[in-house]
Amino acid sequence: MNKPFSRHIPASTLFESAGHREALARLRLMVENNYLGLLTGEVGSGKSTLIRCLLEGLDNMCYQPVYISTSSLKPRDFYGELLRSLGEVPPYSLAKAKRLWGDVLTARQEQGDRTLVIVADEAQEMSEAMLVELRFLVNHQMDSCSLFPVILVGQSELRRTLRLKKHEAIAQRISLQYHLSGLTPDETKAYVKHQMQTVGMTTPLFSDTAMGRIHAASQGIPRLINHFCSQALHDADQRGHEVIEEAHISRVLADYDRQRGVAG
Ligand SMILES: Nc1ncnc2c1ncn2[C@@H]1O[C@H](COP(=O)(O)OP(=O)(O)O)[C@@H](O)[C@H]1O
Ligand SMILES: [Mg+2]
Repeated sequence: MNKPFSRHIPASTLFESAGHREALARLRLMVENNYLGLLTGEVGSGKSTLIRCLLEGLDNMCYQPVYISTSSLKPRDFYGELLRSLGEVPPYSLAKAKRLWGDVLTARQEQGDRTLVIVADEAQEMSEAMLVELRFLVNHQMDSCSLFPVILVGQSELRRTLRLKKHEAIAQRISLQYHLSGLTPDETKAYVKHQMQTVGMTTPLFSDTAMGRIHAASQGIPRLINHFCSQALHDADQRGHEVIEEAHISRVLADYDRQRGVAG
């Protein structure tokens, strides 16, 4: 039997909270309309998981996903990644890389190639220069209608960065955005149940007060819920508990703080 609360879930077992459902609907609109879109949310809120579901669900006769996990990418690296993912050998200089990218786009258009879907994950790490560069990436296509969607994905600070005056030009080009919040208490409960059901587990049960503690400590962030629940299940398994009580969650939380060096 698979373990519940695992890290990489198949798209078919996505838990659709109101927020996740809305985010996915907007992501699909971004793709259909070739928008520049923005998805933000706290660490562990489910952004990359949603992107995976989005990309897996695309018709691969029509779309070609290009997923870049942007860890402080400079423009040259960014074009390099784009080119590499399309099977090109990126030239060393930025100017040459941009020129080649432009040529590749033109050729793709002439050949009627599939629409690219460009996703830049961890975009809060983008350098200033890269944020400015995004304008050119998107602008390239402004003459006619947009050629492909570009989706920026990042932690909440990206939303703040884009509100700064100096980034107004790129912020104005964002046609659609969504900020993913944590699950509500009811959704947290439903999420835990969903995770257990997905692997066919019915016991142990989480008491209501235990669920309350999990929600309060995780703020409804799935990655934290996963962590606390996995620990609690492991604990319950070792001690033979049929019901996970609030006290058990307290122990898990205390251990979590200790491991992080927050307490004790
Ligand atoms: N809607 C969801 N359904 C099921 N699991 C989810 C969902 N959202 C997040 N998760 C789980 O939470 C973890 C963190 O999600 P992730 O997408 O990596 O967050 P982020 O990219 O926002 O930091 C993942 O391991 C995933 O299994
Ligand atoms: Mg992520």
